[in-house]
Amino acid sequence: MNLISNETLQPFDFILFGGTGDLSIRKLIPSLYFRHCEGQLPEDSRIIATARSDMDTAGFRSMLNTDVREHIDDNDFNADSWKEFLDLVYYHPLDVTDPESYRPLVDTLAGREEYVRVFYLSVAPSLFTQITNGVHAAGLITEKSRVALEKPLGRDRASAEEINDRLSAVFNEDQIYRIDHYLGKETVQNLLALRFGNAFFEPLWRSERINDVQITIAEDLGVEGRGAFYDQTGALRDMVQNHLLQLLVILAMEPPVSIDPDAVRDEKIKVLRALKPLAGIDAIENSVRGQYKAGAYGTGPVPGYLDNDDIPNDSSTETFVAIRAEIGSWRWEGVPFFLRTGKRMESKTTEIVINFKKVPHSIFPTADGFSTPNQLIIRLQPEESIRMRIYVKAWGDDIQLQPVYLNLDFNDVFQKRKMIAYERLLMDVIRGNQTLFMRRDEVAAAWAWIDPIRAAWEQYQYLPKSYTAGTWGPGASNALISKDGLRWNED
Ligand code: NDP
Ligand code: BG6
Repeated sequence: MNLISNETLQPFDFILFGGTGDLSIRKLIPSLYFRHCEGQLPEDSRIIATARSDMDTAGFRSMLNTDVREHIDDNDFNADSWKEFLDLVYYHPLDVTDPESYRPLVDTLAGREEYVRVFYLSVAPSLFTQITNGVHAAGLITEKSRVALEKPLGRDRASAEEINDRLSAVFNEDQIYRIDHYLGKETVQNLLALRFGNAFFEPLWRSERINDVQITIAEDLGVEGRGAFYDQTGALRDMVQNHLLQLLVILAMEPPVSIDPDAVRDEKIKVLRALKPLAGIDAIENSVRGQYKAGAYGTGPVPGYLDNDDIPNDSSTETFVAIRAEIGSWRWEGVPFFLRTGKRMESKTTEIVINFKKVPHSIFPTADGFSTPNQLIIRLQPEESIRMRIYVKAWGDDIQLQPVYLNLDFNDVFQKRKMIAYERLLMDVIRGNQTLFMRRDEVAAAWAWIDPIRAAWEQYQYLPKSYTAGTWGPGASNALISKDGLRWNED
């Protein structure tokens, strides 16, 4: 199993394009700091951040002192380690669209060809090709080089293939790390452990025993400062094409023969290819688009999506999607998979709910008439936990069944700092382990399923339905699931 260890890595140069951006400041640099605290970053390694902003290394370090520091909890902060960490960090102003501006980087990297070299592209996807061409033209790609790219890769299958073609013109597939940070989350890997490290789930993991599966990634935040990016993207591309489909695939895949990267990815892609296509009227009937309007949380009112300054006030970009999907395979035929994601929903909740079939014949009177069958709830956020709902006899002199939960809260079990998903992924890039990264054919297969849905929305001019911020999305999402006689798990 690809669990992170504190093994010392080979010394590396980590070149962070977009080093001043939101993702770098909130996640990537804190992740590298935490790995340094664990003693994992070898001496003589360097993190070389770049962006257009004109500053020197001292200026960048002092920016990190304020901007990154606020994303590290006081309990996890150690002033000495932070100081040591900052000594590993450098900055070069660089406009990736200007071939001349790679020159200082060439000088900085000269003589370190034997080091692992990571080009991490934390920039808009429209800049990916410019950067890969730029580092290629500057002669910076060595045998030990890797490139890591953020999602979404492209806007559709055609543009993703174009980016991939250009990438493979300068990097081999085994040098390319396509990131989906959900694969770095502990609970996602625990899903693999749960399924393939325990004998008793496997016989239940099929259509004979499972009634339906619900996967929800709900966020309470809005689009924050990312309006311009988000409005061009929408929830289908931002969340469904990658995070939601990755969760579905890990849940539904057949057991791989080993934990080797290709053994795992070979099984994942079979699920993507087995997803029944949703196109035309089928796509309309099996999907819901939503867009949030102004609403309120306990903390006060929040504006609607269209109230953001950087969003056109007639935007029809969706901030919510729900889809009823099916997988055409022996294991899953007939089991509906309900996928749902949205911004400004009632709470930040990411969970996978597996509803088992009801007992074939009940001999017991129950408090709730078995309206709620056995259920396995795998929660990724806010807490990481696994809960199983079973029925027991309630204490008393009559035989009355009552649902109770077997609870596994990872926080209680392991009692240590919860890792940022990127910590594992960044170390894997440096270490050279591709298990938790998307292969080219996986990305293409995910887009191949997504593209017809978007095409149908356009063809039928299916505009998003509005929902109030702070709720679980538009009413149409409840109507979608109720067609199967079900309701979303919102306990
Ligand atoms: P930001 O807009 O916050 O940051 C973009 C970065 O790129 C900045 O450092 C910017 O600095 C730099 N940049 C822009 N143009 C150039 C240029 N011509 N030359 C050099 N540098 C440039 O984006 P995010 O950090 O939010 O996102 C980065 C990537 O990560 C995107 O692909 C996004 O989809 C993905 N992502 C983001 C997540 C998030 O939570 N933020 C989550 C998951 C994925 P400057 O303007 O100074 O040049
Ligand atoms: C990113 C999306 O990939 O994932 C964001 O671009 C979203 O829009 C984020 O907010 C959610 O990640 P997490 O780990 O907070 O659930």
